Amino acid sequence: MTAVNGFTEYRQDRQRPMIVAHRGASALAPENTISSFSRALEIGADAVEFDIHQSSDGRLVVMHDESLERTTNGSGFIKDTDSRKLRGLDAGSWYASRFRGEKIPTLEEAVDFITPAAYAIVEIKHGNDVYPGIEKKIAELMSLRKGCRKRTVFIAFDPEILLNIRELDTELSTGLLTADPPDDYIDVAQEFLVQCFFPKWEKLKPESVSLLHKNGYSVHPWVMDREEDAAKVMSMKPDSVSSNHPDMLKRIVGGG
Ligand code: G3P
Ligand code: CA
Repeated sequence: MTAVNGFTEYRQDRQRPMIVAHRGASALAPENTISSFSRALEIGADAVEFDIHQSSDGRLVVMHDESLERTTNGSGFIKDTDSRKLRGLDAGSWYASRFRGEKIPTLEEAVDFITPAAYAIVEIKHGNDVYPGIEKKIAELMSLRKGCRKRTVFIAFDPEILLNIRELDTELSTGLLTADPPDDYIDVAQEFLVQCFFPKWEKLKPESVSLLHKNGYSVHPWVMDREEDAAKVMSMKPDSVSSNHPDMLKRIVGGG
């Protein structure tokens, strides 16, 4: 296992969990846009999570859904739409009229914007089956961004995507997203060469946090929007906590 950045390392000496802004400060600005990332950084988030897909002409773009309807004024699938058309869409008005004209960011824009101040957590929604060559494109793009890559972690529910990324570049960090806990966290980590885990918070158990920490892996539960849930998760001493309301996390986690 190669721990290559301060986000994926088990945070033994830290007094508090890192704060992750999920899809940016997505309760306060349109999710997965530069405005939501900017708001997250203003609040003081330590990391910003966002999601990526691939356009028909092979550009990596930031959006949660694979289709355009919910968060833009476009329609159809990202995989069937070219980057020029995507660039012309409005990704802000659906949230509030004051965000009209907000663009769909590219992966490059997102990591360049976030990583000078915070860690970027990039969720890869699909692998080669839907987006041909996506892992190779990610590795190439990150090889040109030496500074950014130390502050970026790639995550996915499909561990094969993460293994492909690590086989292309062992210095890229990866974390496995889980909705249900695997039978054996350590076996999975070793098989797919991941440095950390992103479990759904409702399924996380204190003994899993202890086991992972004992073996040097960090733990990043998602996504808590109620204070009482965040407090409950924090009592398990994970390495980060995540919310669409990073302002709420900042209040209860504190600074430092
Ligand atoms: O951080 C993990 C979380 O983002 C996974 O769920 O649907 O919000 O991408 P989703
Ligand atoms: Ca996500």
